[in-house]
Amino acid sequence: MNKNMAVFLLSFLFICSAAAAHTNYADHPVHQDKNLESLISHDVIEARIQEVSAVINAAYADREIMLIMVMKGSVCLAADLMRHIHVPCTLEFVQASSYGMNGMKAGELTVSGLDNLNLAGKHVLLIDDIFDTGNTLKTIATKMAEKKPASLKTLVLLCKKIERTTSFMPDYVLFELDNLFVVGYGLDYKGHYRGLPGIYVLRQEPAQLNA
Ligand code: IMP
Ligand code: MG
Repeated sequence: MNKNMAVFLLSFLFICSAAAAHTNYADHPVHQDKNLESLISHDVIEARIQEVSAVINAAYADREIMLIMVMKGSVCLAADLMRHIHVPCTLEFVQASSYGMNGMKAGELTVSGLDNLNLAGKHVLLIDDIFDTGNTLKTIATKMAEKKPASLKTLVLLCKKIERTTSFMPDYVLFELDNLFVVGYGLDYKGHYRGLPGIYVLRQEPAQLNA
């Protein structure tokens, strides 16, 4: 091996290890915020996405999937999941809003973007961030079923372990969660915290975001 090649190889290894070190986000400023308690790291999410996407790739082996993300909370999940799906797939979105600027209290549910989606004959996989009361996912899935897709499955990042009035449950769940309010990896409090790499428990309603 000549000198140039050795320098190239060492630089390449250095860049790879730097990239690997970066993905665990250990030095992310979020770890200084005492109001946020780390619950699920980005690495654990990524590993679970790989597991679940292998199941999905097998289940849809000879079919094409239409992924439909529920905006905005599922933005990180859909982007990461899609990169591990190896069967043909397209991506669409609908927007649901119930919390808005209410913070930790749910308000009235509004859903938009459904009208111009043609689902007839499609294998739809609906993706949402969190299954809490189940009202959001059940409402959207029920409206989608009326559009006669060939199949309709639902996938969520988190499912809260609570008693529900509905028997409707998501088909794929990445993680079960105690009844906590969480932020990060797409999940928000009043529109904030969506960009955090992992999932964090919000200990108290942040006073500066209450106005
Ligand atoms: P559901 O209709 O009660 O199942 O609530 C689903 C929606 O409420 C989710 O898509 C989130 O936008 C929001 N939500 C419920 N729990 C949380 C939470 O712990 N953190 C952030 N958003 C939440
Ligand atoms: Mg949401």
